[in-house]
Amino acid sequence: MTDEDLLQAARTIREQAYCPYSKFKVGAALLDDAGNLHVSCNVENAAYPLGSCAEAGAISAMVAAGGKRIVTIAIAGTGEKTRASPPCGGCRQRIREFADNDTRIIFNDSEDEWQSFSIDELLPHSFHL
Ligand code: THU
Repeated sequence: MTDEDLLQAARTIREQAYCPYSKFKVGAALLDDAGNLHVSCNVENAAYPLGSCAEAGAISAMVAAGGKRIVTIAIAGTGEKTRASPPCGGCRQRIREFADNDTRIIFNDSEDEWQSFSIDELLPHSFHL
């Protein structure tokens, strides 16, 4: 599976986002160490803090399916003001838990342009056990 395939999977699941409050749709697609794909989208709630990020759902799906490590995670967002979708701080820590030095995190800047980073680049001096 190429980066483009993974981004496309993120763009596809993004359409399932439940985001009536922010109207910012996010899709996440991750490839795990067993070669399996896991996807999710953001799910908001009228009690705002209860909303969950797309990455959190994809990581939960990986763990539930027996996946151990993230090889690559792609994040695709789109809203009225921006399409840039770097993972939030909380999701960087969530990714950290299942990331290795060569894990790649890719996210779009615009619909067609994207960047790739390691977890150390996105979350330097991170806390992990
Ligand atoms: N969101 C994600 O799904 N992932 C992130 O890393 C950043 C933010 C969602 C949460 C909320 O539903 C919407 O984007 C706007 O913040």
